[in-house]
Amino acid sequence: MRHRLIVPAAVLAALTLAIPASAAEPAPGAPGVGDPYYPDYGNGGYDVSHYDLRLKYQPKTDELGGTATLLATATQDLSRFNLDFALDVSEIRVNGKKASFATSGAHELEVTPATPLAKGQRATVVVRYSGVPSDVEVDGFTSWHRTPDGGVAANEPEAAWWWFPSNDHPTDKATYDVSVAVPDGTTALSNGTLQSQRSSAGWTRFAWRSDKPQATYLATLAVGKFDVVKDTTSSGLPVINAYSKDLGADEGAARASIERSAEVTEWLEGYFGPYPFNSVGGYAPNVDAGYALETQTRPFYGKRGWANGSNVSVVVHELAHQWYGDSVSVRQWKDIWINEGFARYSQWLWSEDQGEGTAQELSDYAYASHPADDPFWTVKPGDPGPENQFHAAVYDRGAMALQALRNEIGDEDFFAILKGWPQQHADGNAKVRDFVTYAEKVSGEPLSGLFDTWLYEPSKPGAPALSASDT
Ligand code: ARG
Ligand code: ZN
Repeated sequence: MRHRLIVPAAVLAALTLAIPASAAEPAPGAPGVGDPYYPDYGNGGYDVSHYDLRLKYQPKTDELGGTATLLATATQDLSRFNLDFALDVSEIRVNGKKASFATSGAHELEVTPATPLAKGQRATVVVRYSGVPSDVEVDGFTSWHRTPDGGVAANEPEAAWWWFPSNDHPTDKATYDVSVAVPDGTTALSNGTLQSQRSSAGWTRFAWRSDKPQATYLATLAVGKFDVVKDTTSSGLPVINAYSKDLGADEGAARASIERSAEVTEWLEGYFGPYPFNSVGGYAPNVDAGYALETQTRPFYGKRGWANGSNVSVVVHELAHQWYGDSVSVRQWKDIWINEGFARYSQWLWSEDQGEGTAQELSDYAYASHPADDPFWTVKPGDPGPENQFHAAVYDRGAMALQALRNEIGDEDFFAILKGWPQQHADGNAKVRDFVTYAEKVSGEPLSGLFDTWLYEPSKPGAPALSASDT
């Protein structure tokens, strides 16, 4: 006997209500972009095209405050979205209307606009904030360096949390206007070109513009007493270098290195093609750091780099990153080799040019200096893990991988690849795998085996192929 299914109207209504919201229903944006190394970095649901930061900084107290205006576009129907930030927020407006907000963890801000955003809708997000960056420690670290006369934001992969709210991942690049008022006699430095410098009532406001897409960690702010040196290259590129007035005995070495920036940029253009940005330079703050950073158009150089005299090699490294890292950026943080392997290899090319040892010699030396049982060889440059993102293996074994490639395919194809790659992905993002595919295309040779050996084997590869001239 067949049963007739009779469903009362009330049950039907209840069933309808139980059906999950349709895709068109506005939903919260994800609290991260889904980077496997750092799941909560960046956010989902929107894309930022421009940051306008209008700030004021008092060196005496390390107080930083002002307004960040983000021009964004919703990439889904959005009921709520996150920003990454660690200072104190007093007000947020989305398209002019007050939004509610809450902090979540040490560096997430959940913003709920008065009305949800539709997919494709533009949003002007205004965030008023203040704080003492040096008071903020996130996950046990800080990227804000307090100096006797100011402060500096520079670190990787995290730097923005300490000075502006953002969608903090290299996949969401944007242009920047950074305007900072500081007491007269003090300088505020940032990326790009200095649009204006005006004093009023004891404060001087510096307005900087970085007009090409820039990843959040490559934005920098430095406040302090600086000597700013301006020049223009023969091709018309503005050069702005800056030196802390408090470098002491390191000042000569810093100037003897950073003043070579324009020359090094032109030298790198010979290998990588046209410089990707509209200004160049470098700055040497009084920050006792052992690292440098390729902050876009204007690298940061920690003071410990100057202890042994001039260090043009580090300038070569950071300026090489302008192509390899800044214009072409990682897709995920595990792709760090597409930055560091090439920046290190550039230093080897510079050494070759200076008569201080060829790239082959430096590769052989690095290879020989780590015996097979050295844990150095357990780090895979193509996927080092977040704890080893800046391990020496990413740099040195990463550059050995390029020497192995050069020996496999010959100089002509190798240098065509070095020059072609930055054009291929200019102002974008790329994965290690994209590089392998590109190298195979240009050389017409299968290269997966070579890259698997050099980037992904957790052990010491067999002796690298000898260079063509040695065979
Ligand atoms: N990309 C930088 C460089 O090699 C590395 C920065 C490492 N960060 C750090 N805090 N040690 O030039
Ligand atoms: Zn580097």
